[in-house]
Amino acid sequence: MISLSDLRRYKAEGRKFSCLTCYDSSMAKAMEIAEIDSILIGDSLGMTMQGHDSTIPVETDDIAYHTACVRRANQHAFIMADLPFMAYATEEEALKNAKKVMQAGAQMIKIEGDAWLADTVRSLTRNGVPVCMHLGLTPQSVNVLGGYKVQAKTREAADKLIRDCEVLVEAGTAIILLECVPAQLGKEVAERFPQVPVIGIGAGADTDGQVLVVQDMLGLTFGRVAKFVRNFMVEQSGSQAILNALQAYHQAVHEKEFPAAEHTFRVEL
Ligand code: KIV
Repeated sequence: MISLSDLRRYKAEGRKFSCLTCYDSSMAKAMEIAEIDSILIGDSLGMTMQGHDSTIPVETDDIAYHTACVRRANQHAFIMADLPFMAYATEEEALKNAKKVMQAGAQMIKIEGDAWLADTVRSLTRNGVPVCMHLGLTPQSVNVLGGYKVQAKTREAADKLIRDCEVLVEAGTAIILLECVPAQLGKEVAERFPQVPVIGIGAGADTDGQVLVVQDMLGLTFGRVAKFVRNFMVEQSGSQAILNALQAYHQAVHEKEFPAAEHTFRVEL
């Protein structure tokens, strides 16, 4: 099983690592076979699994449930799990909710925010919970940010983000995740912290790891898809393979082509 030390070593060796979101056992097994390096049980499950239009309705119990589903099926990847909206508003809440998620099988928790969370990071780390800090576009604050937009677009804002990272790393942050920031800032943060792996989503090619929401990269996100998403499914199959399979099944049932003899138990009764 990949550990935090392995991810640090990958960074030192300049070996990039892969990360995908995952919420269920069959996908977790597929990711084990594909040797995906790390998995995030993201609060994006609010959208991908629960059908909400933001991550805000997600509860810690939802994350713990999906973390346990994933861990049972995948013994390879380094597993991170989100603490959702308001689950770390105080240090006490953060400790109580991190306990649930870590006991469900996570190796690290991820929280969104900046330097104001330094004490929370210190307290979690002291209690045996490694922390990934998510900065840049932080979807739990969508109502404060006023939408899902690229962040830190000026030198001043980029410098503030770097200063926040310095405070958070000093407090014990073990991984930084940057979402939707200029590529140059992704590179600067990755270079600034040689001991801290930096994962990017829409943060350019120079971060140490990359993460995508699995539904996005499989072409299962309908409606607006972010600029940073690449649809790997369409590249592999030349088509929306999962959608095509669903349509083919529907048609085969309608046309009585399925089930065929080879799918049928023929026993004289
Ligand atoms: O919840 C999530 O899926 C995330 C990724 C977008 C990084 O936080």
